[in-house]
Amino acid sequence: MTYNFDIITDRTHSGCYKYDLRQAVFGTTDVTPMWVADMDFQTPSFILDAIRERCEHPVLGYTVRPSAFASSFRNWVNDHYGWKPDQTRIGFVPGIVAGIGLAIQTFTSPGDKIIVQPPVYPPFFNSPNNNGRRVAWNPLREVNGRFEMDFEQLNSLIDNRTRMFILCNPHNPGGTVWSRETLLTLSEICNKHGILVISDEIHADMTYAGSRHIPYASLSEAAAMNSVTFMSPSKTFNIPGLICSYSVIPDPVLFDRFQATTQNIDVSGNIFAYVAAEAAYTQGDEWRRQMVDYIENNARTVVDYCRDSIPGVSAMMPESSFLVWLDFSELKLPNEALRRLLIDKAKLGLNDGPTFGPGGEGHQRLNVGCPRPVVVKALEQIEKAVRSL
Ligand SMILES: Cc1ncc(COP(=O)(O)O)c(C=O)c1O
Repeated sequence: MTYNFDIITDRTHSGCYKYDLRQAVFGTTDVTPMWVADMDFQTPSFILDAIRERCEHPVLGYTVRPSAFASSFRNWVNDHYGWKPDQTRIGFVPGIVAGIGLAIQTFTSPGDKIIVQPPVYPPFFNSPNNNGRRVAWNPLREVNGRFEMDFEQLNSLIDNRTRMFILCNPHNPGGTVWSRETLLTLSEICNKHGILVISDEIHADMTYAGSRHIPYASLSEAAAMNSVTFMSPSKTFNIPGLICSYSVIPDPVLFDRFQATTQNIDVSGNIFAYVAAEAAYTQGDEWRRQMVDYIENNARTVVDYCRDSIPGVSAMMPESSFLVWLDFSELKLPNEALRRLLIDKAKLGLNDGPTFGPGGEGHQRLNVGCPRPVVVKALEQIEKAVRSL
């Protein structure tokens, strides 16, 4: 079956964050919203059908977590990555950001240092800050159009209060898929210093055909035993509103400590999240493959268009997912002027670069998880706005 990702679906007034918060965030509804990281594609019918089928039973009472929750996930990561996590160490978390917050509370103490690699998804540093921990920055470097880790700077950062490293694997906003060599070097450093690695792999299943995602915990026994991995079908199958994510903690002591945290606050999933996750992981691969192909073409369209037609603007080609990191720094605009140019002239609602931490200045993040004509129109609007300067 060939799926059609060109369909435009009106999401306004559906309680949709991306569309219905435009006035609050951009001060106007007159922008095409290409910010929040969900996709404008319809959630695939095999997931909607599974939810409908569950609704055939007219009682939506307290529910037990089905065994298929863990087994369908395990089969999926085994089929895609050759990773075989122990099923008894797979848990549920109500979203990965919540999972990161719970991991910070479980495994670190106030005042401890947590390393993050900016520019990066803002909760990676907001969550440590909000929990009274200290953020240690290990900025990424852009080398030949992609991000690379700076291990020399990383080594120089570490002291006896450094407890945790939050890894974005693949990276948001760069779409970088980390190589085995990079991950191995990282794991050597973190293991040597007893720094627990939290690997957020929410974008893993959208890795493009030319790259290969490596689950951090699949690197080696030592990496597995010093890590917490979070994964989710939410981004890939466009179901983040169902709040359904996985934790994998191979070390039994760490697993029990995290389990205690989640049990103490009675974390549990909802009926539809379990149903949707199982449908995604058992029926979703063909849809996923076609969707990834589509978003890769969208991203390529952005990179080529910027290079060929928008002077002073360039785009980093992602290797995974639907987020494109745009570089406007050659325009030498103060950030507020750049923001206004995009809202007022280009009529686009993007994510503002500085919200991703150091290295975000002069950048914006564009979400291309939408029909291609929307992407092309957005590029034409950026071109027109930039040429008006
Ligand atoms: C790297 C990363 N982690 C986590 C999330 C959000 O995850 P959740 O909705 O499960 O909290 C996002 C969403 O953009 C993300 O990009």
